[in-house]
Amino acid sequence: MTSLMQIKQEITELKNKHNALILAHFYEDGEIQDIADYCGDSLFLAQKGQESSHPVVLMAGVVFMGEGIKLLSPEKTVLVPDMNAGCSLVNHSPYDDYKAWRDSFIDPVVVTYINSSTEVKSVSDVICTSSNAEKIIASIPENRTVLFGPDRNLGAYLSKKLNRKMELWPGACEVHVLFSAKKIVELKVEHPDALVLAHPECLESVLQFADIIGSTSHLINTVKESSASKFIIATEPGVIHQMRKHRPDALLLEAPAEGSCACNECPYMKLNTLEKIRDALMNLSPQIHLNADHAEKARNALEKMMTISRGQDVSWNLV
Ligand code: 13P
Ligand code: SF4
Repeated sequence: MTSLMQIKQEITELKNKHNALILAHFYEDGEIQDIADYCGDSLFLAQKGQESSHPVVLMAGVVFMGEGIKLLSPEKTVLVPDMNAGCSLVNHSPYDDYKAWRDSFIDPVVVTYINSSTEVKSVSDVICTSSNAEKIIASIPENRTVLFGPDRNLGAYLSKKLNRKMELWPGACEVHVLFSAKKIVELKVEHPDALVLAHPECLESVLQFADIIGSTSHLINTVKESSASKFIIATEPGVIHQMRKHRPDALLLEAPAEGSCACNECPYMKLNTLEKIRDALMNLSPQIHLNADHAEKARNALEKMMTISRGQDVSWNLV
């Protein structure tokens, strides 16, 4: 048996032993996506983590995704393969500064992207992901001041699309800001029939050339269902694994980043490996532990997102 087969078998045995659920984000390597029970975008993974009855959930993604599952299901053991799998949006939004920003407005509604720490979520009114942000913001009464963070590019895109003024926190994803509008245009000249697909964390200069803008699952579904056969993909290339499965016939071109680096890969997502997943299941570690001072308020904001996502009404009254 090859060592890869051996590790996969060990993962299966450990998964059965602990009755564990394995979730993987679309930015993980294909071999990790293939051993997961569910692969998805941030919203889908949060939903699957919450609705599962498994006592142990391993999140092959980044730490804020594991924290989200622990917030929604505090009784579960939530494992992440590598505690260093952070996110530049978390790094760009220190709690004290974010709280001071919030406190500088009178009665704002703070909408915080799920790519944030539990502490930052705790000073937020509601959380959103790229797949439900429009619905969340549209549910807030027009007379309320909306603060959006920590991704200013997603915020600017939503503000324009919804024609709604919002105050934006100045954070950004270090991966998505590197896509080059100039190089995408050059690729489009070479392949005029290609559809440009972009994640809304990209800069406005890139989004202006995109035919489709959306979450990772939206971009994958577009490739799956489109009659086009060429696509230029401006997001982390992990998504191409699923796109290829759905459309083996299609030409899937990675949108180039500035320079000649392979820096369109998320360095945090790519810290995860099959070996680390096996070891986390074997040792039941590293586990997510939440800061009790912040968990309850963060949970309320996240639960509010889940409620709106289910199509249920929430109250925006001032307390
Ligand atoms: P999705 O929710 O679209 O999967 O995005 C997560 C993410 O981290 C994008 O950089
Ligand atoms: Fe964070 Fe960007 Fe990586 Fe997504 S791609 S997890 S926003 S650093």
